[in-house]
Amino acid sequence: MTLPSFYEDVVPDEAWASEVKRLAREQNAVILAHNYQLPEIQDIADHTGDTLALSRIATNSSADKIIFCGVHFMAETAKIIAPHKSVLIPDARAGCSLADSITVDELREWKSEYPGAVVVSYVNTTAAVKGETDICCTSSNAVDVVASIPSDRDVLFCPDQFLGAHVKRETGRQNMHIWAGECHVHAGINGAELSARAAAKPDADLFIHPECGCATSALYLAGEGTVSPERVKILSTGDMVQAARSTSAESVLVATEVGLLHQLRKAAPEIDFQAVNPHATCRYVKMISPGALLRSLREGKDEVIVPQDVADRARNAVERMLAIGRPKDGV
Ligand code: 13P
Repeated sequence: MTLPSFYEDVVPDEAWASEVKRLAREQNAVILAHNYQLPEIQDIADHTGDTLALSRIATNSSADKIIFCGVHFMAETAKIIAPHKSVLIPDARAGCSLADSITVDELREWKSEYPGAVVVSYVNTTAAVKGETDICCTSSNAVDVVASIPSDRDVLFCPDQFLGAHVKRETGRQNMHIWAGECHVHAGINGAELSARAAAKPDADLFIHPECGCATSALYLAGEGTVSPERVKILSTGDMVQAARSTSAESVLVATEVGLLHQLRKAAPEIDFQAVNPHATCRYVKMISPGALLRSLREGKDEVIVPQDVADRARNAVERMLAIGRPKDGV
C-alpha cells in the first residue's frame, strides 16, 4: 500500500528546482541523496552517493542543515555523527525492512550467548542497535571491517544474512555468526531471473549488490562457466558507479534497487544497463518525492531526533566504520 506523499501536485520542473535551490541556499542546507532515490531527487542533490560516501560527507560538511534524501537509518546516522546540525528527512515514514529485522533486545540476547564476541552491525540498523555495536559497516567496507578484527575473536554480524555470507566467503572466517535478516527488495531478486538474463546476454557484466540472495547464484554461474568469473562483480552501489566507468562491457545486468540505474546511465551512457528484476523498487525510498523535498525545506520537516544518550552510545561504532575503507571520488 502506498501512503499519500506531501505536496502531491508538485511537478519537478525548473520552477521547483530553482525554489529548492533557493531555499537550500537561504538555510545553508546541503541536500544529500542516496543512489536509489528518484532521478529528479538525485539530480537536484548537492551530493549523490552510497551510504558510506554520504555518511562521510555529512561528517565533513560545513552546512548548518542536512536534508537527507534517503531512508530513515541513513538520516539517523548523519544525526549521530553530526549532532549539532539540524538533520531533516523529507518523509520520516521512509523506513527500511532490513533495519527492522533486528531489535536492540534481540541483539542483547544474542550477545549474551557469545560473551567476548565483536559485534559488527550493518549501518542499516536503528540507533539503539548501533549503541550495542562495536563497529558498523556498509556494503562497501564490510569485508574490510571484519578483516580488521583479530582472527581469534568471534564476530556477530547483523542483520543482513546475504551480506554476511558474502563477507564470510571473502574473509574465509569461520568464527563469524550471522543474523538471519534480509532486505525485502534485494531478497526478491532471485537466482532464476539472474540465470535467465545472464544466459540471454553471455557477454554482459553482472553487477550484484551483496544484499542480494542471487549473489551465490552469480558465483555458481561463474563456477560452471555460464559467465566468465571476471564479469561477476559483487559491489556496493557506489562501487558499481565506479565500475561502470571502467568496464569494457557493452551491457551490464544490475541486481539492486532500480533507482541506481539513473547514476549508472549518467556515468556510462554508452553502456546498456538492465535491471535483473525491473520490479525491484523500494516503496520507502520512493517516499522522498519532489513534493516531500519542497515541504521539508519550506516547513523544516521531518526533523530527525536521536536522544542524546542513544546517540552517544552509537557514535563510536559509526566513527569506527568511517575510519575503515577507502574514500572514493575525493569523499
Ligand atoms: P550502499 O549504499 O552501501 O550500496 O547500500 C545501500 C543499501 O542500504 C541497500 O539496502
